[in-house]
Amino acid sequence: MIGRLNHVAIAVRDIAQAAEVYRDILGARVSEVVPQPEHGVSTVFITLPNAKIELLEPLGAGSPIEKFLERNPDGGIHHLCYEVDDIQAARERLKATGARVLGDGEPKIGAHGKPVLFLHPKDFCGTLVEIEQA
Ligand code: CO
Repeated sequence: MIGRLNHVAIAVRDIAQAAEVYRDILGARVSEVVPQPEHGVSTVFITLPNAKIELLEPLGAGSPIEKFLERNPDGGIHHLCYEVDDIQAARERLKATGARVLGDGEPKIGAHGKPVLFLHPKDFCGTLVEIEQA
């Protein structure tokens, strides 16, 4: 069912510093900082030949990555995003297996303007999983 790895998201406290690490030390192509108030994060997109890395920094009160950063003060891998051809079909299949879809279970428009769902880490080897309509 899942297709390509779309991105690995890394939560950080200081996105400018993290972008510098990827640009200056790792030599990656790094975007400007993109505030995404509707998602409670600021984002930097890093384009690799085979996938993307997204750096996430909390934006505003009640950011969804705030608790993660309290537990991981140095930052860390926050989620993986896999592409699917049909997000509604994927959702039905996941629900039929008993996997927990987070939120109200309806796809939301994600950081790339495409429908996404998040899946409970306890059902996926301790990793928060995002699926995105390809
Ligand atoms: Co993501």
